Amino acid sequence: MKTLHTKEEGLKNRSFSKAMPMKILVIEDEFSVRFGISCTLEGAGYKVMSAENGIEGIKLFEKVHFDIVITDLKLPGADGIEVLKSVRNISHDAGVIVITAFADVKTAVEAMKEGAYDYISKPFDPAELLIVLDRFIKHRGLELENIRLKEEVKDKKQFERIIGISPVMQTIFEKISVIAKTDSSVMIYGESGTGKELVANAIHNLSPRKDNPFIKINCAAIPETLLESELFGHEKGAFTGAAQRRKGKFESADGGTIFFDEVGDMPLSLQAKLLRVLESHTFERLGGNESLTVDVRTICATRKNLKDEVKADKFREDLYYRVNVLPVTLPPLRERKEDIPLLAEHFIEVFSKKAGKTNLTLSPAAMDRIMTYEYPGNVRELRHAIEMAVTYCSGNIIGFNCLPAELKGNGIDKSDDILTREDISLTERVRALEREIIANTLEETSGRKKEAAKKLKISRETLWRKLKEHGFPMSTPDLED
Ligand SMILES: Nc1ncnc2c1ncn2[C@@H]1O[C@H](COP(=O)(O)OP(=O)(O)OP(=O)(O)O)[C@@H](O)[C@H]1O
Ligand SMILES: [Mg+2]
Repeated sequence: MKTLHTKEEGLKNRSFSKAMPMKILVIEDEFSVRFGISCTLEGAGYKVMSAENGIEGIKLFEKVHFDIVITDLKLPGADGIEVLKSVRNISHDAGVIVITAFADVKTAVEAMKEGAYDYISKPFDPAELLIVLDRFIKHRGLELENIRLKEEVKDKKQFERIIGISPVMQTIFEKISVIAKTDSSVMIYGESGTGKELVANAIHNLSPRKDNPFIKINCAAIPETLLESELFGHEKGAFTGAAQRRKGKFESADGGTIFFDEVGDMPLSLQAKLLRVLESHTFERLGGNESLTVDVRTICATRKNLKDEVKADKFREDLYYRVNVLPVTLPPLRERKEDIPLLAEHFIEVFSKKAGKTNLTLSPAAMDRIMTYEYPGNVRELRHAIEMAVTYCSGNIIGFNCLPAELKGNGIDKSDDILTREDISLTERVRALEREIIANTLEETSGRKKEAAKKLKISRETLWRKLKEHGFPMSTPDLED
């Protein structure tokens, strides 16, 4: 008896490549049919073995590995359903195709419920059988590909520049890799700063369209009057100021992907026009009669709840169903705090490289705050906080007091508080305090030194000297006047 293994394990160990011919077991009591099927299959390059009754077929299946079993339903000894059940007991991944008498569709349906892949009614054309087999192989190929992708993505801390180890992000990585291979419309939901654009980019980069354009359009940033010509382009003289014919985003995206950012903010008048393009793939430039056809994949993103927008008559229901085919929801950062240390580490690396600093780490108090803060601005806010902290911190430790005001809140952290530290001399404490005050003032003035000097009631020259002494990065544009 073969050992029972799960479908995924079975598929992983199996090759469905053309290089290794697939093995098929044919169980059929009528000699002429059995012979006919075997010849057809061998002619098509398969390896075939056959049995003339169910019991013999099951015995053979226990001994030899087969990828596919084609079995008649009516058999002497064990019938087709029993064969199917025995095959399923031994292996989850062998495909079973049953042959039924023309009138016996009911049993065929029962067989499908028991896990048969498909059925074929007698009498049948050999070509028909080959088509069913081909479909099965393609289906298994896709299953295999999905398993491979899942394996590839599993436990990766970073996926296409998206960082995350939380289970929810891991699931999103898997989802992205599957979605990317399809051509369906994707809808990315998430609060501001959760990484919607990163996900849209990842989907395009992993898709078969990756070598073609990825065109982004921000529906919230472009005035309603301009959005239509942005999308569809215009002919020369279409409106005042249209001196030249201009390509729209749809035309530019041909063959690639078009990304509608903040699609929930698209004006209703344009939603109808967008729906038409998505349904027919055709449109006209503004002021033009020529119908243009494009091949584009659509990805949309919104921070809004589109269902609520539909209820409030702000978003067309028909467009909602058209764009919401494959929804992906990015949770806010506060709901996946496991990702914070990894993200923080990544941003520290990025920004310390830019600032020419090395070996920076967060003090325990700063780390604690970074973990407990709620991040209304999500990953973008964390990124910004780390950028500020890296810029303004001295030495190798990013202390609590280097964090931006929003994170610090009203908290003064004693463990980082230089005033209470007894392990350093008075001079060092005063120096550290001076640095802290300067850093805070620069933060308040967004790096503007003239303003900072005024606040500190010292001359600009003194501030410059102190910045140098304390090792502030002088080249950082934020610090330029
Ligand atoms: N998981 C992540 N890993 C690494 N960087 C991230 C991640 N999520 C977001 N970011 C970074 O945070 C910033 C915001 O991300 P992005 O622009 O994709 O968010 P968004 O959801 O589109 O925001 P908005 O709704 O404001 O447009 C970017 O700098 C991006 O690189
Ligand atoms: Mg965005």
